Amino acid sequence: MNFLEREHNIFFQTYKRLPLEVVKGEGCYLFTKDGKKYLDMFAGLAVNALGYAHPAITHAIAEQASKYTHLSNYFLQEPQIELAELLIHNSSFKRIFFSNSGTEAIEGTIKLVRKWGSNKGKKNIFGMSNGFSGRSMGALSLMDKEKYREGYGPFLENFGSIEFNNVHDLKSKVNAETAAVFLEFIQGEGGIVGVTKEFIETLTALRDEYGFLVVADEIQSGIGRTGKLFAFEQFNFHPDVVTIAKPIGGGLPLGAILGNEKVENVWTYGVHGTTFGGNPVACAAGIAVIKTILNNQLMNHVRETSQWFKEQLINLKHPSIKEIRCYGFMIGIELHSESAPVAEAMLALGVLVNATANTVIRILPPLIAGKKEFEILLNALKQTIK
Ligand SMILES: Cc1ncc(COP(=O)(O)O)c(C=O)c1O
Repeated sequence: MNFLEREHNIFFQTYKRLPLEVVKGEGCYLFTKDGKKYLDMFAGLAVNALGYAHPAITHAIAEQASKYTHLSNYFLQEPQIELAELLIHNSSFKRIFFSNSGTEAIEGTIKLVRKWGSNKGKKNIFGMSNGFSGRSMGALSLMDKEKYREGYGPFLENFGSIEFNNVHDLKSKVNAETAAVFLEFIQGEGGIVGVTKEFIETLTALRDEYGFLVVADEIQSGIGRTGKLFAFEQFNFHPDVVTIAKPIGGGLPLGAILGNEKVENVWTYGVHGTTFGGNPVACAAGIAVIKTILNNQLMNHVRETSQWFKEQLINLKHPSIKEIRCYGFMIGIELHSESAPVAEAMLALGVLVNATANTVIRILPPLIAGKKEFEILLNALKQTIK
């Protein structure tokens, strides 16, 4: 039996798996049991920012694993402190909490903003239409997509959804009872769609008027992916809280909540916690990720390469392409037709991309991908969207 058959027999069938049996990864490439090589321009759903088997990460993991793999959060742990300092000193935030995943960062943030609002008469929390926040009941309460919510209700009270980029909807929903508005500045699962200037300006004015918190979900877009450490930096806006995960653990499970001065004293001893969050091995890998991104000017590389790739895409003048949306290495190519068959055909040519939002090809390459990789991708695209 192959992997697919063995999996099919015993797993809850929650994932549509790719028919690949991977034996190892190296840089931007994956190698399978049958001797094939694949260019991975999806990077483990934006997790593998430095590609596979990056020496800085494997070294950091091995070194930390040889010291201790877990202590519990009763202990002060140097890798946690060092990674926290790197994130705080390279941002405008004051406090950090480490979680195990993106969803848990969202879940913790829901608790943080609820506690913050509890003595202020602010109880309402909003997410955005077409957004993605995770799979817990809290995360699902922020979302509007039936695809994810069907059959799981009832959801948390005092949650609602605002139509993304619709200023009228935003104005009609937030008020003095609003505790927080959660948004992805660039929606990933939603098809790589950026927030508009008008929406951000309105959000800024309403936050000034009513004093609610704005939470930026940077779980997919954060840590250099868009050519800035955080995607919100592109939009001239400072959120009060940011959630990160995916690339921050260098492939190990890790997430974090960062908050500004408005929330810095909300949490006190015992009001929130986790056994594994801030695992020292994951934090050691995270330090390697951040240092490599900063020391190797990877964010410049992302901006330049993305601009070049966008020009190549525009030059294709392909009639099947409806719109190209490039935010650094968060790239969406919207087609006039369904994108899943194109992603499947590209896989057959040895290139991994993702299909999302029905008609969008989502490309989330490792930040180390160069022109060579993008040329391979372009070639496969040309052959498959004919
Ligand atoms: C924007 C965003 N928020 C939250 C999540 C949930 O993160 P996780 O899958 O680590 O729980 C994801 C995952 O895809 C995401 O893209």
